[in-house]
Amino acid sequence: MEFSIKSGSPEKQRTGCVVVGVFEGRKLTAPAQDIDRAARGFLTEVLRRGDLEGKAGTTLLLQSVAGVPSDRVLLVGLGKEREQGESAYRKSIDTAVKALRATGTTEATFYLTGQALRKRDTAFKVEQAVLGIMEGMYRFDRMKSKPPETKRALKKVVLHVARRSDIATGEAAAARASAIAEGVTLARDLGNLPANICTPAHLASEAIELAKAFGLVCDILEEKELAKLGMGAFLAVARGSRQPPKLIVLEHRGARKKDDPPVVLVGKGVTFDTGGISLKPAPEMDEMKFDMCGAASVLGTMKAVALMKLPLNVVGIVPATENMPDGNAVKPGDVVTTMSGKTVEILNTDAEGRLILCDALTYAERYKPAAVVDIATLTGAMVIALGHVATGLFANSDPLARELLHAGDAAWDRAWHMPLWDDYQEGLKSNFADIPNIGTRAGGSITAACFLDRFAKAYPWAHLDIAGTAWKSGIDKGATGRPVALLANFLARRSA
Ligand code: BES
Ligand code: MN
Ligand code: ZN
Repeated sequence: MEFSIKSGSPEKQRTGCVVVGVFEGRKLTAPAQDIDRAARGFLTEVLRRGDLEGKAGTTLLLQSVAGVPSDRVLLVGLGKEREQGESAYRKSIDTAVKALRATGTTEATFYLTGQALRKRDTAFKVEQAVLGIMEGMYRFDRMKSKPPETKRALKKVVLHVARRSDIATGEAAAARASAIAEGVTLARDLGNLPANICTPAHLASEAIELAKAFGLVCDILEEKELAKLGMGAFLAVARGSRQPPKLIVLEHRGARKKDDPPVVLVGKGVTFDTGGISLKPAPEMDEMKFDMCGAASVLGTMKAVALMKLPLNVVGIVPATENMPDGNAVKPGDVVTTMSGKTVEILNTDAEGRLILCDALTYAERYKPAAVVDIATLTGAMVIALGHVATGLFANSDPLARELLHAGDAAWDRAWHMPLWDDYQEGLKSNFADIPNIGTRAGGSITAACFLDRFAKAYPWAHLDIAGTAWKSGIDKGATGRPVALLANFLARRSA
């Protein structure tokens, strides 16, 4: 997709489709009024017929409007003028893209980006438009035997800004957002791939490809090396699988000072989570192919970081394995020794994410990191707590938590700060080992974070539980690519 920024008037655009907004109550926005004037009141007339009220989520496509040089005019309902905020804005973009997909146009000029939005600047509006358009145009057809018949796809998008002086800002924002969108797309592709293809070895080869394409440094640690490092918890999860585990390490060395302490991202890469011997029930178990979305977000973010050429050192670490039941699988009650030396009693083999992450968090210490952020589809309880809107954020450092919350707000990929108080640590007591791998069911996401916290004492650390936000269920089942936008924004701010 090619994005460009312009500030010209809508009635003069010679393009496949101009996209303008209409508020509820059939109120034309300023660019819609300009078109209406050029078309001698045609828009007003059409709206009077009652075909578009301006409600959010609705559109009306007009063809060959007399007096307007563009082939089409797409009117997009924005909802109530007084209720315009970030969500309404994103919804208007998403609605427009959906309508454009149904047409044969290959180009469009969006006037929605030029509109005033409370507390948000041109950069935000352009970034969200680029991310929304890329998200809306995304399709995952790789597994279909024949590509589905589709209309010609959108190729060129012009985003309108209010003033000529906004063009440079708009262009920079579009470039940044395109890089982030590429990262999001990679994360979605990896998430959507079935687990018989997206194995630990597949994730490793994707990392190697990324390294080759973008000059990153990649290292894949095999089972033998993991054993030598003493990663007893990670290897316990991998025991039941025929697929060998991999520890993927990917480095972007972008800092001006070579040995600047890096930011380390650690992503849960369980390519399929059956629960192991603590087997999960059958319904929706297919969705456990998404249990590597943390890993996918790390690879996606590394791609975005490389495309943005951020002057920052970033390390991505992905412990990748399946979690399977087997004659050789780890059993409830088994005690394993982690790389840190701490012993863990595995009371439930379905609490495997924390077992692979704890060893990866210990491994991260060797980088003397400025900060470590892990990203994981860790607990079903997270979905109960925050639904599918916010990612759960836990941290042992308030400044780091604030940075991530802020990045999430700026990228409109929001997180919510959850408590990690000592009071919650009390649930983690084992009769037989240093700690059990499960705590109380109450506050399950918090006790899971408490477990990880025990292994993250050497650096400022944050944990993003993306169980509710990494993918959608139901008819638009599929990976979302979250939280690549949050992470890319966080790293971009760190490097500024
Ligand atoms: N991958 C799951 C978490 C999950 C479940 C995410 C459903 C999204 C939807 C994780 O490995 C898991 O199984 N967690 C258990 C932990 C429990 C055994 C303490 C859970 O949440 O039930
Ligand atoms: Mn599990
Ligand atoms: Zn899992």
